This record gives sequence, C-alpha cells and structure tokens, in this order.
Amino acid sequence: MVKMRTFETEQLATVYVAAIIEGLISAVEHPVLGLATGSTPVQLYRQLVAFHHQGLQFSHVTTVNLDEYVGLSADHPQSYRRFMHDHFFGHIDISPNQTFVPNGQASDLAAECARYDKILEVHPIDLQILGIGHNGHIGFNEPDQALQTKTHVVRLAEDTIVANTRFFARPEDVPTEAITMGIQSILQAKSIILMAFGRDKAAAVRQALSGEVSTSMPASFLQMHPQVTFVLDAEAAVEVNQRVNDLNPIYGTANPFWAPLSRSSE
Ligand code: F6R
Repeated sequence: MVKMRTFETEQLATVYVAAIIEGLISAVEHPVLGLATGSTPVQLYRQLVAFHHQGLQFSHVTTVNLDEYVGLSADHPQSYRRFMHDHFFGHIDISPNQTFVPNGQASDLAAECARYDKILEVHPIDLQILGIGHNGHIGFNEPDQALQTKTHVVRLAEDTIVANTRFFARPEDVPTEAITMGIQSILQAKSIILMAFGRDKAAAVRQALSGEVSTSMPASFLQMHPQVTFVLDAEAAVEVNQRVNDLNPIYGTANPFWAPLSRSSE
C-alpha cells in the first residue's frame, strides 16, 4: 500500500525525508541508499550535508544512483555523477568507491548494464529515493507498451528531452539516451520514498497513486510495493485527497514536521 505524507512546503517535506535517512543510517550497520538526481532532491542533499556538519556520518553508507546520461563523462557539468558530487558526495565523508552511478561513457553499454545489476545484487537497497517525471517516469523508465525489469539503455521520451534542455547550452547537446535501473530493480528496494513538489507534478502524482497500474504510467507500479511513501508538498498533493492526517492523528498539528494541509481538494 502506498502511504502519503503531505507538507505545506517543500522545505518541511525535505526535512522529514532527511530525518528518515538519518534514522536509517544511524540504525543500520551498512546501509544502502538508492539515490536520484534532478531538481527534486537538491534540497534533500543540502539538508543531509547540513546534518553532516552537525555530526551525521556517512562513511559506512553505500549509495547506488538510478541513472546516468549516455555519452557524458563523469566530470561533465551535466552528468549525474558530477551532480551527485557537487550536491552531495563532495560535501560528506563518503569514499568515492562506495558511490555507484552508471558509467555513461562505457564502450560496451550492455556490459555496463550487467555490471550495474551485479552491483545491485551485492548492495541491495534499503531505501530508494525517487522523483517523478511529468509523464510518470521513475528513473528513466519512460511510459511504453512494456517496461524493462533490469538496468538498460533507454531512448528518452521527447518531453523528457525538452524538460532537460534547461540544463544545456544548446538543444543539440541534450542527451537522447540514458542508462537506468529497471522497474524491478527499483521495486526490489526494501523501502521507497517518492518525492514530488509543485503543481506541475500533481497530475502524475494522482495517477501514480490512484490510477490503474499501467506501463503508460511507470510510477503506478509503486502501488505493488509493500513499503512506499509519497512525500509531497501542498501543490503536488492538490489532486489527491488529504486523508492521511485524518487517519493518523499523531501526524496532526502538534508536530510541525507534519503540518496538516488546507483541505482544498476535499
Ligand atoms: C533522476 C531521475 C528522474 C527524475 C525525474 C524528475 O535521477 O531518475 O526520474 O527524478 O525526471 O526530475 P525533477 O526532479 O528534475 O523534476
């Protein structure tokens, strides 16, 4: 069953997720975090770096990222490896060999996908952090007639390429392919948090949460996972009923982490 937590602001939602990560990595000897890039987790990484400055250690943590663009070198300003370094890894006490991101420049991409699946076997993910595309993609598992289970090379959907143009100087520089963990690899994580912020994610959030499970909405497959939480700000939650606070009074007004929303959608 998918749980949902909604917060007035992205910042409150982010602190909530960061606190969950702190709890996990403090409790587990060798925790494995599945990580995402994009604009959604930027504040989360900032918050975790702030926790690190307050004493939170990451030296025992392993991270496995969802995806990487094909063709970009690790130090390319728009590669996901570089993103992770700039926003997170470069600011905490984690050794580079405990951080895994697909190699988008591998000469044999099929071999790289197989290598990544092996990494996922050796390091099963305790908590996978996800964002969601406007079209419902998770990782780069784009809507299609069938979804691939394992790590694979994907041709990015046109609207994903268009959405990514904001990060590149020229449209022709925008990568058209990526390596991504497959849908089954994502669902194998012990627990999953999907974060979504902003009005423009509201339709995808509603369909993923309560639409039918369909390959045309890859995030809807999360409904089949036993431990998934959607962590939303008010705008991303606007198309779904905010019943969770009613069902769980512990998450009511007393605790600022769980500030209840105005009931605009009811
Ligand atoms: C990134 C990823 C993507 C993004 C999604 C949302 O590693 O796997 O699925 O999470 O495209 O992107 P933003 O957060 O930029 O809206």
